Amino acid sequence: MTASPSTAIDLAALHRRDFPLLEQQINGQPLIYLDHAATSQKPRQVLEALQSYYSRDNANVHRAAHSLSARATDAFEAARGMVARFVNAADPNEIIFSRNATEAINLVARSWGEANLRPGDEIVLTVMEHHSNLVPWQLLAQRSGVVLRHAGLGADASLDIEALCGLLNEKTRLVALVHLSNTLGCLNPVEQVVEAARAVDARVLVDGCQALAHLPVDVQRIGCDFYVGSAHKLGGPTGIGFLWGREALLEAMPPFLGGGEMIEEVFLDHSSWARLPHKFEAGTPAIAEAIAFGAALDYISAIGLATIHRWEQQLTQRLFDHLRGIEGLTIHGPAPEQQADRGALASFSVAGLHAHDISALLDSHGVCIRSGDHCTQPLHRLLGLDATARASLSYTTTPAEIDRFAELLIDTVGFLRANS
Ligand code: ALA
Repeated sequence: MTASPSTAIDLAALHRRDFPLLEQQINGQPLIYLDHAATSQKPRQVLEALQSYYSRDNANVHRAAHSLSARATDAFEAARGMVARFVNAADPNEIIFSRNATEAINLVARSWGEANLRPGDEIVLTVMEHHSNLVPWQLLAQRSGVVLRHAGLGADASLDIEALCGLLNEKTRLVALVHLSNTLGCLNPVEQVVEAARAVDARVLVDGCQALAHLPVDVQRIGCDFYVGSAHKLGGPTGIGFLWGREALLEAMPPFLGGGEMIEEVFLDHSSWARLPHKFEAGTPAIAEAIAFGAALDYISAIGLATIHRWEQQLTQRLFDHLRGIEGLTIHGPAPEQQADRGALASFSVAGLHAHDISALLDSHGVCIRSGDHCTQPLHRLLGLDATARASLSYTTTPAEIDRFAELLIDTVGFLRANS
């Protein structure tokens, strides 16, 4: 997948004009938004999809016989089809809309976990997981007595795949891991994990929140059992995400939440369930958000994830080249030279300085980066840090923005050192 700089198309030059939010000043300086891993900015096509739905089509889905409801239902189900195509699901019924990826993981933990796991069964996770892929399993462990095991990091600060495989045994029922780490930026070898998990007859759940916006994802090729994502990391709105699951597994799983939409028949003392995917979609869903999610997927699919990935690799190399020139700065995660497909972000710390001070000072110059634990406290504890700073890119990031960020970071570090 590695591309030479000359082969990458300058996507910022082509697409930036579609992102109105990026054309503003913050604290009197042009905004440089480098927090795409926390949430992405939205192209106007997504904003228009929201506006158009509420201006013309708003009605509840799957319920009424009138024209508006039919239009809303068609658009909502078309969005499901787009998500299915985006991850190459075998069938749109395998896509369950959720509020976000966190809810999707909770759905699997509650429904699949409680139905299938017994005390003493083991779940293998990694130390780099987002809290959303740790806490639901901890809650399940408290309820059901399953045992959690955690694979650590290798020498290049990416997943120690041998250690992970070494944790697998006949008691392992599930491996749940992040595809692309939001903190380390490493791309985990999920196909290899699936192969190893299959050898002990374990299921695999992949958290795709960061990967989906940056490289092509094909759930059938990965071979996993569950894959989750969130629209807001992909240029779509907040409040909607999805679970992809193998149809046979989803069919066998009990409902997660009960209520309208997810039933077939309701009696006073019992009910039967709707077919997939509705069995897992209780209540009125986020209709406008789903439709706008579809518009976001349309937008990035038209560019092409392979094209995005090539351009972002070039940007990432530029970011690393700058950061490596700053004395006392440590980047946490594999370098592009160690892992060519790593993600377009860099989490870093500067000796003697706090990440929040760096971030606050950069903000005064119009630069938005994240500082904190990035919802990976156990990983930060392992690194011996309570916080890191993180610059995360997108295909709308310009090389000039990365250069300006680096310049301002050098000034910031110099200022903080002189005044600490
Ligand atoms: N998980 C998001 C991040 O990495 C919020 O910033």
